[in-house]
Amino acid sequence: MDILGISCYYHDAAAALLRDGQLIAAAEEERFTRIKHDFQFPSQAINFCLETAGIQGADLDYVVFFEKPFRKFDRILMTVLQTYPQSYKVFRESMITWMIDKLWVGSRIETELGVPKERVLFGEHHLSHAASAYLCSPFDEAAILTVDGVGEWITASCGVGRGNEIQLSKHMEFPHSLGLLYSTFTAFLGFEVNEGEYKVMGMAPYGQPRYLDKVWKLVRQNGDGSFSLDMSYFCFHHSTSRTFNNRFVDLFGDPRPPSMHFFTDSTGYPAYFGDKPADYGELALRNQHYADIAASIQRVTEELLLGMARSLYEQTGLKRLCIAGGVGLNSVANGRILRETPFEELYIQPAAGDGGGALGAALWAHNTLLGKPRKFVMEHAYWGQSYSSSDVSDFLRQNNIPFRELDDDDQLLDTVVGQLTQGKVLGWFQGRFEWGPRALGNRSILADPRNPAMKDIVNTKIKFREPYRPFAPSVLSECTEKYFDFPNAQHHYPARYMLYVSPVRPAEHKTLPAITHVDGTGRLQTVFREQSPRYYRLIERFGKATGVPVLLNTSFNLRGEPIVTTPSNAFNTFSKSDMDSLVLGNFLVEKSS
Ligand SMILES: [Fe+2]
Repeated sequence: MDILGISCYYHDAAAALLRDGQLIAAAEEERFTRIKHDFQFPSQAINFCLETAGIQGADLDYVVFFEKPFRKFDRILMTVLQTYPQSYKVFRESMITWMIDKLWVGSRIETELGVPKERVLFGEHHLSHAASAYLCSPFDEAAILTVDGVGEWITASCGVGRGNEIQLSKHMEFPHSLGLLYSTFTAFLGFEVNEGEYKVMGMAPYGQPRYLDKVWKLVRQNGDGSFSLDMSYFCFHHSTSRTFNNRFVDLFGDPRPPSMHFFTDSTGYPAYFGDKPADYGELALRNQHYADIAASIQRVTEELLLGMARSLYEQTGLKRLCIAGGVGLNSVANGRILRETPFEELYIQPAAGDGGGALGAALWAHNTLLGKPRKFVMEHAYWGQSYSSSDVSDFLRQNNIPFRELDDDDQLLDTVVGQLTQGKVLGWFQGRFEWGPRALGNRSILADPRNPAMKDIVNTKIKFREPYRPFAPSVLSECTEKYFDFPNAQHHYPARYMLYVSPVRPAEHKTLPAITHVDGTGRLQTVFREQSPRYYRLIERFGKATGVPVLLNTSFNLRGEPIVTTPSNAFNTFSKSDMDSLVLGNFLVEKSS
């Protein structure tokens, strides 16, 4: 039985295909269209899934859309009516997009895939989120928490999964949304909403949470974990261009201009910003204020999530928790939930945001609606497209790109380790690309984490990123506890997907300066031999050469672009940056100097 799940029209469109309950393929549309967070109907991701399964659309048993479009339409209509006439612009824009695309998604699926109406099903947004975590977890029973920006009327939900069934018993409704609260600060701090949330999280450790009392003016948490926003500070409910209003500005001061370089006394002034400005001291102080605001909203977010998780534990008494929704990607908060609540084990899958809804919708249809036994546990994130050796060599030859083919794996890995220990930065392209926003060793940029200058080198040469963005470490799973204060790390699935931030052991800060964040933490990835054999062997070999089985791993893309998909994307990124080498499968391409 083949079931295709689809999510789109909000952000991160995606498709996922199950065969007899096992995931065959899953990908986000942005990887193919090269439009970051592409939310349009995911035609290319769907084609990729069908090709991988070797079938046509008409062969599908079911297609499941991740939410009910009419209910979301109802939410927009009600919000608009409540805040009319302020919301007239939202109303007009929503009408145009909803009438054209969103309401007609069912017929689009029928015509584009050749699937009759009775085989097109509709899930519910938060149920799809919940299913995307619980139904691919190894748990037979678990508490479930979904938190995101907004889906349909609901912004957060919680409940329990037992066997094939999911019961979401409590909901929170728009506009009271943790995702939208965080996004409001993302916009205030000069970043793009739905994109810059990581930047806020990365900026937070450079600040002190001095403005907790002010942030708590915007949001109040109740005894049962639910919370409400004081909407007199926001305008996301009646504006498409602004999220906060003048009252918010009275409280926190002027927003940070998007073009302003971020640096404080503790980041220093990176050389790649150019000459130090004359008013450096004043700018550093201003940035410190913004870092303090980032620290404050991050802390309040963590407290709200901890409150929700504790209350869910009290209600259910279960020791396991599945988290989904965009807020599930807040790896700092996830780490605290694991350390500070009675939950002993968490499951979060790598595409926790809306993209994951495609997977959840398909799993929900298969396991819950059709009642088929659960057979699938997501053990790794490699569900995207792969390219064969002949694809790679054809591409290189056709474009007259000089390369070396290293058929012998030992020779390949030794060459790569040799380059890494010489301080070189490599593009590493192997196998199927990752599901979700993190590069986990198949589309990664790799470097030596022991080199204190490496953060600046990678930022300058490759990513042109802001200095506060931490780089993540990939560590052999069995060596994790030597470097990180993370008991029994191998046992915890989210660590495979870089979804926990953990303290680096103080004694190892000097060993791993390039991946230790200013607050002494790292967003680690545990690497397993069974799931990532070649990446595992590379880190193992690096460990043998240096005594440290850890690599700096950052996503293979330039700033603002989706992670690379094809050999051609990888080569273009390599060419446009100062990366030293590129490894495509067994082929090594080096920069001619
Ligand atoms: Fe969502």
